[in-house]
Amino acid sequence: MCGIVGYVGNRQAQDVVMEGLRRLEYRGYDSAGIAVVSGGALHVRKKSGKLANLTALLGDEPLPEATSGMGHTRWATHGPPNDRNAHPHVSYVGKVAVVHNGIIENFAALRAGLEERGIEMGSDTDTEVVAHLVQDAFETVPADSASRLREAVRAVCNQLEGAFTLVICHADEPDTVIGARRNSPLVAGLGDGEYFLGSDVSAFIAHTREAIELGQDQICEINRDRGVTVVGFDGVEAQLSHYTIDWDDAAAEKGGYDWFMLKEIAEQPAVVADTLRGRLTESGQIVLDEVRLSDQDFRDVTKIFIIACGTSSYAGMIAKYAIEHWTRIPCEVELASEFRYRDPVLDRSTLVIAISQSGETMDTLMALRHAKAQHARILAICNTIGSTIPRESDAVLYTRAGVEIAVASTKAFLAQIVACYLIALHLASVRGTKWGDEVAVVVDQLRSMPEAVDRVLDTMEPVRELARAELADQSQVLFLGRHVGFPVALEGALKLKELAYMHAEGFAAGELKHGPIALISDGTPVIVVCPSPRGRDSLHGKVISNIQEVRARGAKTIVIAEEGDEEVTPFADHVIRVPSCPTLLAPLVTAVPLQVLACEVAAAKGLDVDQPRNLAKSVTVE
Ligand code: G6P
Repeated sequence: MCGIVGYVGNRQAQDVVMEGLRRLEYRGYDSAGIAVVSGGALHVRKKSGKLANLTALLGDEPLPEATSGMGHTRWATHGPPNDRNAHPHVSYVGKVAVVHNGIIENFAALRAGLEERGIEMGSDTDTEVVAHLVQDAFETVPADSASRLREAVRAVCNQLEGAFTLVICHADEPDTVIGARRNSPLVAGLGDGEYFLGSDVSAFIAHTREAIELGQDQICEINRDRGVTVVGFDGVEAQLSHYTIDWDDAAAEKGGYDWFMLKEIAEQPAVVADTLRGRLTESGQIVLDEVRLSDQDFRDVTKIFIIACGTSSYAGMIAKYAIEHWTRIPCEVELASEFRYRDPVLDRSTLVIAISQSGETMDTLMALRHAKAQHARILAICNTIGSTIPRESDAVLYTRAGVEIAVASTKAFLAQIVACYLIALHLASVRGTKWGDEVAVVVDQLRSMPEAVDRVLDTMEPVRELARAELADQSQVLFLGRHVGFPVALEGALKLKELAYMHAEGFAAGELKHGPIALISDGTPVIVVCPSPRGRDSLHGKVISNIQEVRARGAKTIVIAEEGDEEVTPFADHVIRVPSCPTLLAPLVTAVPLQVLACEVAAAKGLDVDQPRNLAKSVTVE
């Protein structure tokens, strides 16, 4: 949520910053702005709307040459998304520029104090106060201080409450850009004589793969001569924690697809394979990337909570079926945003699994912290190395989905399901609820899933046609499923809401008759995720009955069914075939046509598939 870039080096700052913003635009696209320092002055351009508007403005009003600068792409919290509220915000004498991600909770008091002194506010944002405060603090730091701007920013950070990433520059310090973080993401990049700050590494992946992890309550200075220096808000210098980014520039490009989402959907077979790779020992144990949990800790688990938001929560709902079935440990799935408000019962023997693609979702992070305070063990399933959620967890299993750019999650979802299943199998083998050979059978089934997903992808053309011909002009679409098909139905509906702005609802197929069936009238499209006829008999038969019930009331039925399942054919207006696979693994194939459908409906409606309105990928506010 909000993308931030900072740069000091030897290239044109405008080029580096705009390139970084282009890659971070998925984090928010309500407005964008850039500031560079040149000739002892700040030069700022900002514009509401997508980055393209800022690019056009720079064409009309070019910036001077400069080798340091910063930029921002916004997801609005305080103040409407107009030019005035776009970042960077500049201090009252025009010397300090600030970009910000997060919410400064005590901004009203700080703003009142500034206004009392006669300082006029130029925006409705919480951010602007920081520019004025840094301006003042800079004047109080001795001019011969080792880093005047860094010290000024540190003094101001200690007055701020809330969550924030800040990047700040000063007209008098053209060789320095300062970043600061509290509960909001920021990483530094280390190039050859050039240094970067970014909300995530995609901001600078085109220039370097060497990165530095920043902790909470830290300030990072990038300086042309001194390089990177990190100090805590308490002023104590921190050791630099280096790492190498293991994906490259090309991974963040569209690679010939019209949309990142299409590319990411197509990457799913590889993502499933990568998430499995090297993760299992011969005895069926899972190799966790960072483990501060012992086998005994896993044996002691008496209850599992899965906490997550959005698509990640649906991966969690699917995992619940496998976890309870394989391990016999009671498992509850909770929306992270609700978790801590109902006082959940947690103790040392509770395992909390926090699922997050970004690793920065504030709702999930706050739920995790609540669980930690109650002494629960925390295991993260995350796609972003070094992000906050895994850092604050006791163990992490990284999904290896690679960078996901499209705002609507696809490949991360499949990777999360696989990662959850690995954990469930690990728990089952450590606790002895499954024998080694039983685990090996499931592992083999999982290993065959990349090929199954690939086969689904090969048969998507009719699904695209169906989306254009039957769904694009509908006002509502209903999704039905049972067992693991239920969360898949929820995810299918979420995808359609997110991308095509249509009223789409997922229901447990059995629940339909208790109310939602009233929504069905002549021609209402109902998409049904049908379980395998080879699984639990009753499940398949019951879903067929549900299909008949909606059809009898005029619904147009689109059924996702296993190859060879002819029983559904008489009741389906359209059948989408997926390869046959074990019931618990079916979501890995049934989710895919729903992703493709939503993508195609949005494209047919002329909408921006990768950047749907009002959304952001990494939601760093509660
Ligand atoms: C946002 C995104 C969703 C995502 C959710 C959870 O709402 O738009 O696509 O599923 O956040 O994100 P996380 O990074 O924690 O998985």
